[in-house]
Amino acid sequence: MSEKVIDVQDAWRERALIDDAKYQEMYAASVSDPETFWAEHGKRIDWSTPFTKVKETSFAPGNISIKWFEDGKTNVAVNCIDRHLETRGDQTAIIWEGDDPNESKHITYRQLHAEVGRMANVLRNRGVGKGDRVTLYLPMIPEAAYAMLACARLGAIHAIVFGGFSPDSLASRINGCGSKVVITADEGLRGGRKVPLKANVDEAIKRVEKDLVEHVIVVKRTGGDVAMEPGRDVYYHEAAEQVTDDCPAEQVEAEHPLFILYTSGSTGQPKGVVHTTGGYLVYASMTHQYVFDYHDGDVYWCTADVGWVTGHSYIVYGPLANGATTLMFEGIPTYPSNSRFWEVIDKHNVNIFYTAPTAIRSLMGGGEGPVKKTSRQSLRVLGSVGEPINPEAWDWYYNVVGERRCSIVDTWWQTETGGILITPLPGATKLKPGSATRPFFGVQPVMVDAEGKELEGKCEGNLCIKDSWPGQMRTVYGDHERFEQTYFSTYKNLYFTGDGARRDDDGYYWITGRVDDVINVSGHRMGTAEVESSLVAHPKVSEAAVVGYPHNLKGQGIYAYVTLNEGLEGDDALRKELVTWVRKDIGPIASPDLIQFAPGLPKTRSGKIMRRILRKIAEDDFGSLGDTSTLAEPAVVDDLIENRQNRG
Ligand code: WT7
Repeated sequence: MSEKVIDVQDAWRERALIDDAKYQEMYAASVSDPETFWAEHGKRIDWSTPFTKVKETSFAPGNISIKWFEDGKTNVAVNCIDRHLETRGDQTAIIWEGDDPNESKHITYRQLHAEVGRMANVLRNRGVGKGDRVTLYLPMIPEAAYAMLACARLGAIHAIVFGGFSPDSLASRINGCGSKVVITADEGLRGGRKVPLKANVDEAIKRVEKDLVEHVIVVKRTGGDVAMEPGRDVYYHEAAEQVTDDCPAEQVEAEHPLFILYTSGSTGQPKGVVHTTGGYLVYASMTHQYVFDYHDGDVYWCTADVGWVTGHSYIVYGPLANGATTLMFEGIPTYPSNSRFWEVIDKHNVNIFYTAPTAIRSLMGGGEGPVKKTSRQSLRVLGSVGEPINPEAWDWYYNVVGERRCSIVDTWWQTETGGILITPLPGATKLKPGSATRPFFGVQPVMVDAEGKELEGKCEGNLCIKDSWPGQMRTVYGDHERFEQTYFSTYKNLYFTGDGARRDDDGYYWITGRVDDVINVSGHRMGTAEVESSLVAHPKVSEAAVVGYPHNLKGQGIYAYVTLNEGLEGDDALRKELVTWVRKDIGPIASPDLIQFAPGLPKTRSGKIMRRILRKIAEDDFGSLGDTSTLAEPAVVDDLIENRQNRG
């Protein structure tokens, strides 16, 4: 790994909110006296009832309890909209750039206020109130942001399901959180192709608990012909005509849930990660301001989808709480050409750009030409998120996209953390390509070995966090025990991230990837257990084991070992059938990249699959399989090696 160091440029430091000395001072204050630090920064949002309590948190076994600003009351939509009306009502809040480059629009804070009020009234008319769950299954259109904020305005809890998930995945999430209302669109539009969102909702509802979903609200995006169930389904524009745009905001307790977002883990079905109101908004807005060095008037663009946490915290909540102009993009990086990102940057004079290594790598493949034909002079800060950024991609981002003028922020965080935990700050942090560098205020990373012993100084180990920060998830929806089990039982009194990392002599963190059975495909998390259970549900499959392997574009690819039922032979046709099966069952992001038909899997005598061996073979690194003598049938390994699918 490269140990190149890039100094903070004078221009970055001069513009920046804080320099290194100030970072050191604020960081020290944030960890030596979190109460005082967060009492001050908690005031960055408006409270209808000011808090007097700041931090009541415990990571103690049997008593995992996380509460911030507990006795305060506030409303997220008021903080993201109403409080800006007086000072910046006519400023653009959202720039929407359509899939088609000829389609875009600007939405001011005043317009946003009206749109959100109207959507909130449509929901309220359908009985949605404080604490009710609303599932959103929407493309990247302004209505997605309106719907999130409309829920927040009412104190309702949104649960967004990424539009790439299948009807089955959608159904289990609607059931999981008990949504009575679903908001969707007729169809989505990405790269010129239509996504049948409403048809997927109809399929999903057939598999949802009977009579659970009372209302489906359909935003007209493409005008495509969709089935409408009388009494249940309504077009949004028709419902919106029946209401005013004036909707009172429900002031809620700081710990009232704001949203649920499902994410994959190493075991079982996806978990409903619960984020609450006050601490989440304080943390999302503060990280957005400092990490991206956001100044009034800047145009900021995060390319994520609102279906992921990055879209929640860094397209909608963080930027809008800061009164920012945030760009929302419906399309993909390669449509109509692979200059699209850079053209959008020039079209809207984007100053801050936040994307994922997988997008950078795929555009890198097209060479410098498509970048160089655009200006990109407006750019100042370039962000990365989702997976470790390899030094080649980092260099290309820095040298080609940013022309060595822009600082790079490699931001490490998770759905569970609500906001960025480890990251450079543009005016403060020397950069090392491939390192997420140092902790944000209030974040205390701890490195531990396999036994849970805390490691000092330069080291390699498992990354944990010692104390709570305001943006931390509070529980797993409906299953607090699973919350404790998943994050606090591996190492006592610590939050375990599931990531491995190394720490260098300068105290910089280098995230090395997941150490559990979660794989990171193009910056998206996939539980191997989920893909396995989908595969074994196929009538021809008797057993399956899924691991990750290095993939040039995706970071990690999905490698599936499949044992077929007695007497069946695997061929390419069956490979295709299984890929289609998983895509249909979970969604395209879960599609196996490689399938190996394996007459047997390496198991211990007690029947446990030895994944270590499967990972090595998938990585084409079978020279160092380690001890295989404890296997029940050591010979299966030779067959696996001989028929491996990833050669080189
Ligand atoms: C996992 C979280 C919240 C961001 C979007 C993904 C990996 C994320 C980085 C980074 C190295 C990273 C980790 C983490 N990850 N950002 N900058 N460097 N790894 O959210 O789906 O909850 O996945 O993504 O492995 O645990 P997520």
